[in-house]
Amino acid sequence: MTAEYKVHGGVAVLTLNNPPVNGLGYETRRALIEGLERAQADASVKAIVITGAGRAFSGGADIREFGTPKALQEPNLLTVIRAVEGAEKPVIAAIHSVCMGGGLELALGCHYRIAAPGCSVALPEVKLGLIPGAGGTQRLPRAIGVEPALNMIVSGEAVPSERLAQIPGQKLFDRMAASVDSLGEEALAFALEVAGRHAQGEPLPRVRDVRLKVPLGEAYFQFARNMVKGMAKGFPAPVKCVDAVQAATTKAFEEGLRAERDIFIDLMWTPESRALRHLFQAERAVSKIPDVPAEIPLREIKSVAVIGAGTMGGGISMNFLNAGIPVKILEMKQEALDRGVATIRKNYESQIKKGKLKQDKYEQRMALLSTTLDYADLRDADLVIEAVFEDLGVKEAVFRKLDETMKPGAILASNTSTLDLNKIAAFTRRPEDVVGLHFFSPANVMKLLEVVRGEKTAKDVLATVMALAKKIKKVAVVSGVCDGFIGNRMIEQYSRQAGFLLDEGCTPAQVDRAIEKFGFAMGPFRMGDLAGNDIGWAIRKRRYVEKPGLKYSKTADLLCERGRFGQKTGAGWYDYAPGKRDPIESAEVIAMIEEHRKTLGITPRKISDEEIVERLVFALVNEGAHIIEEGIALRASDIDIVYIYGYGFPVQRGGPMFYADEVGLYNVVQIMKRLAKNPYDDAEFWKPAPLLARLASEGKTFN
Ligand code: NAI
Repeated sequence: MTAEYKVHGGVAVLTLNNPPVNGLGYETRRALIEGLERAQADASVKAIVITGAGRAFSGGADIREFGTPKALQEPNLLTVIRAVEGAEKPVIAAIHSVCMGGGLELALGCHYRIAAPGCSVALPEVKLGLIPGAGGTQRLPRAIGVEPALNMIVSGEAVPSERLAQIPGQKLFDRMAASVDSLGEEALAFALEVAGRHAQGEPLPRVRDVRLKVPLGEAYFQFARNMVKGMAKGFPAPVKCVDAVQAATTKAFEEGLRAERDIFIDLMWTPESRALRHLFQAERAVSKIPDVPAEIPLREIKSVAVIGAGTMGGGISMNFLNAGIPVKILEMKQEALDRGVATIRKNYESQIKKGKLKQDKYEQRMALLSTTLDYADLRDADLVIEAVFEDLGVKEAVFRKLDETMKPGAILASNTSTLDLNKIAAFTRRPEDVVGLHFFSPANVMKLLEVVRGEKTAKDVLATVMALAKKIKKVAVVSGVCDGFIGNRMIEQYSRQAGFLLDEGCTPAQVDRAIEKFGFAMGPFRMGDLAGNDIGWAIRKRRYVEKPGLKYSKTADLLCERGRFGQKTGAGWYDYAPGKRDPIESAEVIAMIEEHRKTLGITPRKISDEEIVERLVFALVNEGAHIIEEGIALRASDIDIVYIYGYGFPVQRGGPMFYADEVGLYNVVQIMKRLAKNPYDDAEFWKPAPLLARLASEGKTFN
């Protein structure tokens, strides 16, 4: 049962009931049509109310049907809306809580609408690279006017019902109910009232019949198009929203509807929309851990302790303070604590200056922060996150101390970025309570959190930190234990390729430009200068010992030997004017690269942007395939999430694994075979990972 049918005193009430948000899936659509027919066939029914059970009127399309034939199976949404609009008895939408996408389009097809205050109303299709496809672009302008409708459709943002009700002359809401609680009763009374008027001969109003009052000219839409184009970052859908709304002002209703449909179908096939829809699904999949039951009882996290008030400890603490969770930071010395707290204050104060934080909120947050030099003060914390120096000996001392001190059941987390979590867990007598929480820098800004699952990490610990991640507004991805976890393990291959490209003939700026044109927020060399080239240097020094056979370009080491660590030393791959962050090509670095090339005996060649992108991106893809196969990542789409939220991978490409799917895995393998022939590259690395080779030969995809 996905829509209930009940008659109350001459009014048939159709209640959508398809949890969690009454998505308009096939069964729900059928139930709506059946309910409409039944109500019209029943002479005792004078009017029909459509409403939603639980937490929403309707959130729109049922995402479980995305990309399946069921989404379009008749009765599709257009058919349902046509049936509602064409009903012979008045149909009233009783709207509350959430009314979005197809839900709003359905409501717009009703003859009347009554809404509760506090309802989020939106046409969010643009966020999936689409436009509303069931009349939204044609009916909403008729209901609230062109400009407000255009704003909603282009932005996809939700607007509260009470704000929409204030638009002068609006026809979206015929009535506002006093509250959600009284909506049901008020809707019934309103339904009988309009039924009475209808019985007296008043025709049923239809939004489609509204004449758009101000026939806005081409100039207005051209202006809107230019504005939107500037903000759309190359995504086609926002501009198409303008086209569709313009059609509502220039075409007859049915013709406008057809124009909307044509645009909708075109957009469905664009790579941008495919990528956005992939990421939408990926974000929903990422929190699911197959062997951890959804209903597993969680541990309560009411207070957090952080060990180390350095770069990461401070940022990590802010996440919890922002979410209203008290934090106690422990350091070795008072000066370190004072420095750490001062950095947190400075961070908040700069947010206040930018108008992003109110003074009272700031004070509330700081009041939740306390510090200590004594482990005994941490005893009662529910979660402790270690963020001390990246040194196994230091971590050992900290975890032994935590094991002695912390109350039973406390979760012990490490923010290590490279060390073996299983070893860290083994320093305690409770490895089941140990988990990795790998935050990214700056930890109060970056959305990504890698949750590192140790061999012995308990399921409820995992489920608890995944839920906590949501609370502090992070996107958490589960990773198994390996060097670098998902993100950094892959980036190492990308960086290695960037180095080879310099040796073979590129300049840093050429590599950065090519990959930024592909859509990355920042190329590898600009990124190195920002993060500090010394970090990679330290990792490589370790690698030279651990894996002496592995091939690296030495150019980055030469750079570091000159002390060019990046922006923090005023020079890196690029030069920087004092106090400025704009990269300037460096004659010194280019000469250094050329010199090194000579010692390698390489004659530089012209390398195309296409090759640069292939080598950098497919290096990620091949390592990603190994990571899935080894079970380090649960699914390919988790890797895409890591790269979108942690590494500036272009959203419109959907993440490295999705991008490879779009290129076609067979093609990816062919390119890798070609790259393997380059004598200056690492042929061994370009052997397609077994998973990739298998999927390619079977004509399958990662996602
Ligand atoms: P940091 O050097 O800025 O801070 C470390 C802090 O820990 C210092 O304030 C130090 O006084 C304190 N500390 C050292 N030993 C201690 C002990 N025994 N007890 C109490 N406090 C102690 O280092 P950062 O960058 O914050 O890194 C911390 C951890 O986070 C490392 O494991 C690192 O690998 C990891 N990480 C760092 C990232 C980064 O971008 N900086 C990103 C992700 C993880």
